[in-house]
Amino acid sequence: MSAKSVQLIPMKWWHIEQVAELEQQLFPVDAWSTEQFWAELAQPTRYYFLAVKETSVLGYAGLFALSPDADVQTIAVGPLAQGQGIGRLLLEELIDQALARHCVQLVLEVRSDNEAALSMYTKRGFEQLNTRRDYYAPGVDALVMRLRPLESRPVA
Ligand SMILES: CC(C)(COP(=O)(O)OP(=O)(O)OC[C@H]1O[C@@H](n2cnc3c(N)ncnc32)[C@H](O)[C@@H]1OP(=O)(O)O)[C@@H](O)C(=O)NCCC(=O)NCCS
Repeated sequence: MSAKSVQLIPMKWWHIEQVAELEQQLFPVDAWSTEQFWAELAQPTRYYFLAVKETSVLGYAGLFALSPDADVQTIAVGPLAQGQGIGRLLLEELIDQALARHCVQLVLEVRSDNEAALSMYTKRGFEQLNTRRDYYAPGVDALVMRLRPLESRPVA
């Protein structure tokens, strides 16, 4: 399977259960509950998208956008679908959505031991802004990263 056969659609409340199942697999320590996803979808400043193939949800991503600022709320791809360009596709969608809402920068927080995510963000041009030391656990920092300026980039 390639990212080209994947469709991006807005996330709706009826997707929450499937997304929450992926969330448990991907973030076992601090997974968001279904209630947290409901609360996110209810906010007018939030924009959530799914990467789907037929009826299967392969990945999801959420954005906070209120011009001029935008934050990546979450981004994740199911274990079986990783490494095929879907994370990159979702990240580009968030960047495009932030641009469409006249945001000038995109900020996110990532665990210092999350090599895959760090590589994805660095390759896309995110730069480290600051460090919240021991934020997740002793020795596991939160890195705050920023992409600025924002510009659209087609996904190959
Ligand atoms: C981070 C994550 C979203 C990446 O999604 P993905 O679909 O696997 O990534 P892609 O296939 O689109 O790859 C995009 C880039 O990510 C990086 N990457 C992906 N998997 C990687 C791995 N196993 N090791 C190192 N870098 C990796 C690479 O830089 C890659 O670019 P390349 O293909 O040019 O090498 C995915 O690994 C994931 O869901 N992880 C668990 C949840 C999570 O940590 N989310 C981020 C929270 S901040």
